[in-house]
This record gives sequence, C-alpha cells and structure tokens, in this order.
Amino acid sequence: MEFTNMNRQLLSKIATNDQHGENSPYFDGWKAYDKDPFHPTQNPNGVIQMGLAENQLSFDLIEGWIKKNPIASICTSEGVNKFMDIAIFQDYHGLPEFRNAIAKFMGRVRGGRVTYDPDRIVMSGGATGANELVMFCLADPGDAFLVPSPYYPAFARDLRWRTGVQLLPVICESSKYNFQITKAALEEEYEKAREANINVKGLIITNPSNPLGTTLDRDALKSLVSFVNEKKIHLVCDEIYAATVFSQPNFISISEIIEEMECDRNLFHIVYSLSKDMGLPGFRVGIVYSYNDDVVNCGRKMSSFGLVSTQTQHLLAAMLSDEEFVGRFLAESSKRLANRHQIFTKGLEQVGISCLKSNAGLFVWMDLRPLLKEATFEAEMVLWRVIINNVKLNVSPGSSFHCVEPGWFRVCFANMDDMTVDVALQRIRKFVRQGKEGEAPVKNKPWRKNLRLSFSSRIYDEAIMSPHMMSPHSPIPHSPVLVRART
Ligand SMILES: Cc1ncc(COP(=O)(O)O)c(C=O)c1O
Repeated sequence: MEFTNMNRQLLSKIATNDQHGENSPYFDGWKAYDKDPFHPTQNPNGVIQMGLAENQLSFDLIEGWIKKNPIASICTSEGVNKFMDIAIFQDYHGLPEFRNAIAKFMGRVRGGRVTYDPDRIVMSGGATGANELVMFCLADPGDAFLVPSPYYPAFARDLRWRTGVQLLPVICESSKYNFQITKAALEEEYEKAREANINVKGLIITNPSNPLGTTLDRDALKSLVSFVNEKKIHLVCDEIYAATVFSQPNFISISEIIEEMECDRNLFHIVYSLSKDMGLPGFRVGIVYSYNDDVVNCGRKMSSFGLVSTQTQHLLAAMLSDEEFVGRFLAESSKRLANRHQIFTKGLEQVGISCLKSNAGLFVWMDLRPLLKEATFEAEMVLWRVIINNVKLNVSPGSSFHCVEPGWFRVCFANMDDMTVDVALQRIRKFVRQGKEGEAPVKNKPWRKNLRLSFSSRIYDEAIMSPHMMSPHSPIPHSPVLVRART
C-alpha cells in the first residue's frame, strides 16, 4: 500500500512501515485465486488454490466426534448448562482442563517420549500470535534472530513487523546440503552479524520444515542445541507440523534432545498450534511452551492480547482428553497425508517433475529448475506467472520463501478433495506436454534435459508481456485491496 505523506505523519510507524511482508508474491497468488476460484461445476476453469497449507483430509473424524459428544459443545441442549460458566470465564492462564489436555496431546504427538508440564503452556492466537509473543519476550527492537532459509514467508509479519526484530537468513543450499542447516552456515551468519554490531538473540527453526516438508534428524538437532548453548542465545522451535509426519523417519522434538544433552534449558522455547496437526486454523489455538520460567510468566501476561476463546478451550479439552479418539485421529490423519502425498508426487513424477524428498507437511517442494529459461529469479517469476495465469494453479514461488536457488515452488496438497487433485495433475500434465510440443518422444531420455530448450517460448512471451509481471526484487505495486494473510 502506498502511504501519502499526510498519512505518514498522521499514523504510527508500524501502520506505515510496510514491514509485514504481505507485498510478497506469496500473497499475490492469493489475489489471483480470490478473483477466479476453481469450482468443479460453477467455475471449472478457475484457479486451484495450492498455496494454502491447510489440512482438510480428516474433518470427517472431527465432525463424527462432535456429533457423538454433544455435551462438549455449550450450544447444544446436552451441553448448555455449562454455557454461563464458560461464557463468563476468561483467565489468561486458560481453563486447567484445556492446558492439561494440550500438554498430553503434545506428548502424544511426540510419540510419548517426552512429557509436558501444563503449567508451562501459554496460550496465544494461533502460532502467528505465539511466534510474535515469544519474540516480544526474547528480543528488543533492532535485535536479530537467525532463520534458516527457505523459510515461511509470514515470519516477516509474525516475528518482525510489530516487534522491530530483524531476521537474518541463514542460507541452506540444495546443491551442497539438500537444504540441511549446517553449523558452519550458522557460525558464518552469526559472525557476520557480530561484525556489523548486530545483537543476535537467537535462532528460529521450523521442524518439520515449512516449506521443505522435511524433519531434522537427531544429529542436526544436537548441533543446533550445542550452537545456541555455546553462544548463549535462544532456540525457538516452531513445531506446528509435528503430527503431519507421514513416513519415516519419525519426528524428533527439540524437547527430546534437551533431555539428552547438557544445556541451559532457559534458552529453549517451542511454538505449537492446532492449525495444521488437527486442521483447525480457524480456532486460533496457539501455544508457547517455554523452559524458561520468566518467559512463561511474561508470556502469560502478554497472552491477554490473544487468548483462545473459552468456548473453544472447553470443546477441545473434551476432544483431546478422549485418548481413543486422539490415537485414531493421529494414525488416520498421517495415513491419509501419506496417501495424498504419494498420489501427488507420483503424478508429478510421471511427467518428469521431481520434488525434494519429504516425510511431513501439507506440501511438497517442487523442483522446476529445468523449466526455467535461465537460472534467475526473474525467470522464476515468469514461470510462476505462467502457472498462475495459464495453468491456473496458485503455487508459491521459492523466492517468496527467501530461497537462494531459483526454480523451486511450494505446492500444497492437503487443502482439497481427490477430484481437485486430479484436475490439478491433469493441468500439469497438459502444461508439460504443451512445452514438449513438436518434440519427438525420445526413448530412455528424461524429457527434462531437453525441456528448457524446447519449452514453448510463446507461453513465456505472453507472461513477459503481462503488465502485472513483477520481480520479487523490484518495487512491487501495492494493491489497495486488503490481502488475506493466511498460512
Ligand atoms: C511455520 C508456520 N508457523 C506459523 C504458522 C501460523 O499458524 P497459525 O494458523 O496457527 O497462526 C504457519 C502457517 O502456515 C506456519 O507454516
């Protein structure tokens, strides 16, 4: 949004500083979807939303539980006698039964190998609020957090915008390290910041990773713990995709590692939410679980700004205390995610598109480097425009995740039904075939080797001509329309 000089004087720095990051192409794809959303009968040629990391595959299980347990809802004849108590209660500690149930659920999701203390559970409005809350507790304006890239685009808004904290990307390259975080890269970025007189307060990671869909192994986690412990800085682990792990290796939480290692526990904090693991982003259940007493105390006071409604707490306390249901839900949800992931990646493989090998998340990190005209972010944006405008799929370009290698795209696969996935795959197939038009099939030769050369330049040229085309590195025209900032 462009601010007039008048408004710059009238409004606060936060209102006019434009640091929220919503002018990134990641959010721009949303506008294309909002203008022309796919519907199987009413708008079959519309844009399919593949930029939304939502888990919609197991709603039937939750709905089934709600029907069987009307007493858990205060707006049913079976549950209404609790209505008044729940409607008037609002303590920023939260309902004790809710904190107990969440602590147990967190342990269960982590395979029962660790337990959580309900008195350390601090509530917030989703992981969005939890991430900001933890920044407010750990850092002052101008301080910095290291963040391995590629990373979740909305971190700019959640961690930086209102807190004034800086984010320092730590580059994880695919060619050398398969996007793994290395201690050497962390050390390098940390030293660079120190030389520039920047006060590095911590490191934040997402495990499982958004956008990679990978999990960190024990050795990698141990090296992160020893890094922050040596430097006496914080480690914030955003573990909101913990229960989306659908194949080996199993998820290892930072909680397990700090129990095994000698370290200062005051430095460790987990951000959690039910948005991905239970598929309930609308409920805005966010959690900060800190091993630092002062962070728990301060965070609890701050949580007044983003409490979870007691109605939601009441319902979830009952649902998550039903151990049989939780066990069944977690097992079934990961089975369905595995199945969807397999269908989608196999469908891509059939046309020669590969993805980073992943075992978690609601998305894949798709490698379209062979489709780029040249290895630049400008070429990535051109291809992205083609995918949005011609193929009609809203996928998210790697540049919006601060990926340093052009050609990677995040594609979400769990926010739609089977039929829509099928339509998306058909469109991708058609797109790839068009690219090969005129090229005789070559036996035993992967098409992708030739694709860059043979790919229809007409499609590219159209995109280049588009008046809306932009680069993530050039000033981006701001939309007057408020963008819905989600996942
Ligand atoms: C890594 C990460 N952290 C936080 C969030 C925000 O989650 P919530 O909906 O709980 O605010 C998301 C959502 O996509 C995410 O991917």
